[in-house]
Amino acid sequence: MADKALIQALVEAWGPSGHEYMVRALIESYVRELADELRVDNAGNLICRMGGGGKKIMIAAHMDEIGLVISALDKPGFARFTMTGGLILLSLIGNRVRFADGTIGTIGIEGNALFPTEMPTIRQLFIDFSMNSENGGTVRVGDHAALTRELAVRGDRLIAKSMDDRIGCAVAIEAMRALKGKSLPNELYFVFTTQEEVGSRGARVAANSIAPDYGITLDVTATGDTPKNNRMAVRLGGGAAIKVVDSGHIVPPAIKELMIRRAEAAGVRYQLEVLSGGTTDASAIQTALSGIPSGVISIPCRYVHTTSETVDINDVQACIDLLVALLEQPFEV
Ligand code: CO
Ligand code: ZN
Repeated sequence: MADKALIQALVEAWGPSGHEYMVRALIESYVRELADELRVDNAGNLICRMGGGGKKIMIAAHMDEIGLVISALDKPGFARFTMTGGLILLSLIGNRVRFADGTIGTIGIEGNALFPTEMPTIRQLFIDFSMNSENGGTVRVGDHAALTRELAVRGDRLIAKSMDDRIGCAVAIEAMRALKGKSLPNELYFVFTTQEEVGSRGARVAANSIAPDYGITLDVTATGDTPKNNRMAVRLGGGAAIKVVDSGHIVPPAIKELMIRRAEAAGVRYQLEVLSGGTTDASAIQTALSGIPSGVISIPCRYVHTTSETVDINDVQACIDLLVALLEQPFEV
């Protein structure tokens, strides 16, 4: 079953968009022995090649997580912020953020936080550095932060702040481990991308420079399996989600069909994903150069973009198995 220690290290690492360097160093430590060639490009993507000859396939998983940046200091010990990526304002009050140097802040709201009367706007929120005589506060305008929370394990369910998309990174690393030493019929580029949460900026650069024949993106997707939520067929424990469509990407039917065929041949549990809000790096890869046909293997995840993103380890393993089944054989679309 998927390596929980690997997942824990990845989800607890710090890496808001544009500041993926700690996550990249961590991933590098896992993949250095697995890749035939490894480089970091100008956008900060970590690109790992395995094998040569056959079709060129780019596998993308993003290293960054949603976060925020200090926009102005307020009274001593307090600061205002703007978002990098889609923070859910309703989920922020009382949550903690962490800066690169380890400084912790708590998000508060103007007025009486015990009895908020309306939806918060970002203009009403602030960060409280709990400043006192020993803690003067070192934070400056322009400093970036990410939400902070430890991994929790409840049986098969894993809960963390950044399953989006460190769990995709874990799936990629586990697939690299499984493919190591095999004679590969395709030229694989595992790309750990930057700045997905602000518009897939890293993936676009990587797709343009690698010029793959096909793209496969690994990312989380939402589920419809919580109370009074039956608008989506994906559920935790239902297997790997094969994307059909999201708000930025219509998967070419031939790629979707290939994924279904390979899942069925390999005995991998799968479900079909129709996501009405949100998209992935595949939206950028599909429109790079003259168009790169792209598919997505999604890890089902509850409470995406909160500190309690929840996945099922059996789904994670199904995603690894499906990815390996796709990559260890000729890519016959
Ligand atoms: Co996201
Ligand atoms: Zn994501």
